[in-house]
Amino acid sequence: MKNIAILGSTGSIGTQTLEVISENKNKFKIDLLSANRNYKLLIEQAIKYKPETIIFGDINYKRDLEKGLKNEKINIYYGEKALNNFTEFCNPSLVLTALVGKSGLIPTINAIKNNIDIALANKETLVVAGEIIMNLCEKHNVNIYPVDSEHSAIYQCLVGEKHETIEKIILTASGGPFRNKKLNDLKKITKEEALNHPNWSMGDKITIDSSTLMNKGLEVIEAKFLFNVTIDRIDVVIHPQSIIHSMVEFNDGSIKAQLGEPDMKLPIQYALGFSERIKNNYKRFNFSRNNRLTFEEPCIKTFKNLHLAFEAGKQGGNMPCILNASNEIAVDAFLKEKIAYLDMTKIIEESLNKISYIASPNLDQLIETDLKTRKYSKDKIKNI
Ligand SMILES: NC(=O)c1ccc[n+]([C@@H]2O[C@H](COP(=O)([O-])OP(=O)(O)OC[C@H]3O[C@@H](n4cnc5c(N)ncnc54)[C@H](OP(=O)(O)O)[C@@H]3O)[C@@H](O)[C@H]2O)c1
Repeated sequence: MKNIAILGSTGSIGTQTLEVISENKNKFKIDLLSANRNYKLLIEQAIKYKPETIIFGDINYKRDLEKGLKNEKINIYYGEKALNNFTEFCNPSLVLTALVGKSGLIPTINAIKNNIDIALANKETLVVAGEIIMNLCEKHNVNIYPVDSEHSAIYQCLVGEKHETIEKIILTASGGPFRNKKLNDLKKITKEEALNHPNWSMGDKITIDSSTLMNKGLEVIEAKFLFNVTIDRIDVVIHPQSIIHSMVEFNDGSIKAQLGEPDMKLPIQYALGFSERIKNNYKRFNFSRNNRLTFEEPCIKTFKNLHLAFEAGKQGGNMPCILNASNEIAVDAFLKEKIAYLDMTKIIEESLNKISYIASPNLDQLIETDLKTRKYSKDKIKNI
């Protein structure tokens, strides 16, 4: 029986993780759940899954949350400090990090320092501090099991292979809702249009990132750290059907791919269950009915965010941290309808040009870079 902590249990990945756990009650037990503001759903989850502990972000909902849980024997903690130090309240065998953005960084570091394996959905953690995280994992003998479907695919392709035989990692991308558009067409894109992803139902931030291809850019940087390859060995190919979840090309020219219907429960289950493949009844891909799998090159003139991410990944140091912080601020401003769709790229590019480069930042320097970049990006937004 694996004891699981889910950070971000009320989100898209968090709720699907709970479904996987419900389907495998003999294998997994919930130790801890966390949410930020959605107290109603957290109450429902806590009553159903009976974790020992919950952590809730927004203290303003303390009364509502505790009223809803008055008949339950659950320890409740509040705020960012409690989330960052969640290992003080539980000792899970695995933590699934499904928080959004940089909020996942410190809890993940804390988990690693406490020798807890990670099922990582929160890719921003690796983008901000990939080198520090991977070094810590090595030091504490901790495994990271990727939850992103692309990285899960690569992980599966690499089972039984030697690292030095990897020639290329090929990340597939659906292309998002604006795949066939030109740069000019993107000027007037609305929030509603950008939130309408063709293949996946996800949280708002990643859905916007998918539409701009920033999500793929973040995944390129995530892959660099997870699989210890240089950026020039990572390619992105648009595959609109989202059936091939990613591929690895080896030094003999062989390419391994992992395929399946687009359903996040599969990579979640693989990460929770590793090294066991768990039988399930999820929809199977049917080759005779779906006989058209297509591929095209991404257009980085139209989707410049992907280019910016490749460049930030190549430069390394604190550049991915700048890219991420500025993107988080820009996406938030777009979702609040303070800026236009293409302003997001402008703000990120200016941040990358203006914030000072540090070649080998330590954690404090990354946190400072993050704060500086957020301030710089917010000031830019005010002047748009
Ligand atoms: N969704 C997908 O299919 C998918 C696929 C691959 C990777 N990912 C990655 O997985 C992560 C989660 O994505 P998602 O789509 O599940 O996001 P989501 O639906 O927005 O859920 C985010 C979760 O984190 C909590 N949260 C948000 N901000 C927080 C903060 N500042 N402090 C503490 N908790 C916070 C939310 O709580 P409330 O609900 O209370 O606000 C919610 O439980 C992201 O890094 C994303 O890139 C997602």
